[in-house]
Amino acid sequence: MIDDIRPLAVVTGASSGIGYELARLAAEDGYDLVIAADEPAIVEAKGALEQHGGKVEALQVDLSTTDGVDELVALIGGRQVDALMANAGRGLGHGFLDQDWTQARLVIDTNVTGTVYLIQQVARDMRTRDRGRILITGSIAGLMPGSFQAIYNGTKAFLDSFAWALRNELKDTAVTVSCLMPGPTDTEFFERADMLDTKIGSDPKKADPADVALTGYRAMQKGEGDVVAGFKNKLQAAAAAVTPQSVLAEQHRKMAEPGTDQG
Ligand SMILES: NC(=O)c1ccc[n+]([C@@H]2O[C@H](COP(=O)([O-])OP(=O)(O)OC[C@H]3O[C@@H](n4cnc5c(N)ncnc54)[C@H](OP(=O)(O)O)[C@@H]3O)[C@@H](O)[C@H]2O)c1
Repeated sequence: MIDDIRPLAVVTGASSGIGYELARLAAEDGYDLVIAADEPAIVEAKGALEQHGGKVEALQVDLSTTDGVDELVALIGGRQVDALMANAGRGLGHGFLDQDWTQARLVIDTNVTGTVYLIQQVARDMRTRDRGRILITGSIAGLMPGSFQAIYNGTKAFLDSFAWALRNELKDTAVTVSCLMPGPTDTEFFERADMLDTKIGSDPKKADPADVALTGYRAMQKGEGDVVAGFKNKLQAAAAAVTPQSVLAEQHRKMAEPGTDQG
């Protein structure tokens, strides 16, 4: 059992990539952890994160389902959550009409439905206690129509927007909501999304997930509204705000259409 002496952080998608690095930062910072992901690698992550001295509970669970989220909430068991990092997510390449519906729906259910359901369950308690930090992993992908990754970009547009709305709803409380908006990051994301034959997926200069996580973690601790990770991505985000949607969609096609990789 985790006791109440150390602060508690809940991190989803903590088995790899950005989520693992977020969990590592929290562990180094003295948090006990509840971590979740849907494959057995979450148990290996638990072992590595325990090296930082705190207590770590790991749950292998599919967070695209209401039952899965309920299982995670049951594991938290009413304890005070000081930080919730809602990071679990997945992508999916190819043209929308060529995608398998089950896979497409999994992206929506994981990135949107499971994420906001978990946030609702945890944030109600934070509001009651008037205390807590929430970090949502959105994306700069949410700022542009995602030709050949249409569902994914739509889910991230949802999260980028949702984070600001919830933040505003909680402005008279001490609960903060921050949105981390990474650009292309060197994780298992593109392989899982079947996008290795695209320009963006095969780009050798993706960001280091440890750097991206640190940017998000600091923003969460400062209670900032959102943060775009990396200078180049900041420029891209600024440009997206003044570029017509049709142009952005065409630019995205050039990065994400199968066969656009440079070999
Ligand atoms: N990499 C990028 O370029 C990039 C850019 C912007 C935003 N992001 C966002 O960053 C977040 C983390 O992605 P990443 O790049 O670090 O990729 P990653 O290494 O593939 O990590 C994704 C994590 O989410 C978990 N996950 C996925 N579906 C799940 C489900 N249904 N239930 C429970 N856990 C689930 C995975 O667990 P399992 O391994 O157990 O499946 C894994 O721990 C995602 O929200 C992603 O959209 C990534």
